[in-house]
Amino acid sequence: MSDLRFLALSGSLRRGSHNTGLLRALTALTPPGVHIDLYDGLGGLPHFDQDFEADPPAAVVELRDLVAAADGVLIATPEYNSAIPGVLMNALDWLSRPAGSSALSGKPVAILGASPSQFGTARAQLVLRQILHRIGAPVVAGPEVTVFQSHLRLNTEGEFTPDEFTATLLRQLLDGLTDLATLRTPAAIA
Ligand SMILES: Cc1cc2nc3c(=O)[nH]c(=O)nc-3n(C[C@H](O)[C@H](O)[C@H](O)COP(=O)(O)O)c2cc1C
Repeated sequence: MSDLRFLALSGSLRRGSHNTGLLRALTALTPPGVHIDLYDGLGGLPHFDQDFEADPPAAVVELRDLVAAADGVLIATPEYNSAIPGVLMNALDWLSRPAGSSALSGKPVAILGASPSQFGTARAQLVLRQILHRIGAPVVAGPEVTVFQSHLRLNTEGEFTPDEFTATLLRQLLDGLTDLATLRTPAAIA
C-alpha cells in the first residue's frame, strides 16, 4: 500500500491555539506510512462570496487542490458560542462549492477539538459533523476526541501535551481515518 497523506486544518488563528497544538501532537504520533501536512492559510481566505464560487481567488483554489490531493482531512475545531468559529465555517463554505463538485464530497474526514471548558468542544463537533454530513464527507465515527480543560495540558513552553489516554485516542482516530481512506483508494475498490 502506498503512503497516505492527510491534510490537517485548525479552526483557530490564535498563536497559542490549543487546537493547533492538538494537531501538532497528533502529527508526532503518526505511524509509518502516514504523513500529515498542517495547513496554515485559513486566515488568508477571503470571505465566501457565491459570485466567485466557480472561479474563486487563488487562496481558495490552493485549498481546494490540497483537499482534493489529500487521502483524508483532519479538522480540529475550537468551540465558539457552542458552534464552530467563523473562519472554519468560511473555509467549509468555499470547500462545499460548487454544488456537485465539492473537494470534500466523499473525502474521509476525522474531527477533534480542545477547549478549556468541561465539554471539550462536544457541541462544536456536533455542529461540524452535521455540516460535513451535508457536504457528503464521510466522518470517522469514533473515538470522539473532545479534549476538556485544555489549558491544564500545556507544558512550560505553552505547547499542548497529551496525556497517555489522549495520545491513545489520537492514535485510534488516526487509525480510523486510515481505515476509511484505505477503503476508498482505487486499489482497495478494484
Ligand atoms: C468568541 C468565543 C466564543 C467562545 N465560546 C466557547 C464555547 O461556546 N464553549 C467553549 O467551551 N469555549 C468557548 N470559548 C473559549 C474557547 O474554547 C477557548 O478560547 C479556546 O482556547 C479556543 O481554542 P484555541 O485555543 O484553539 O484558539 C470561546 C472563545 C471565544 C473567543
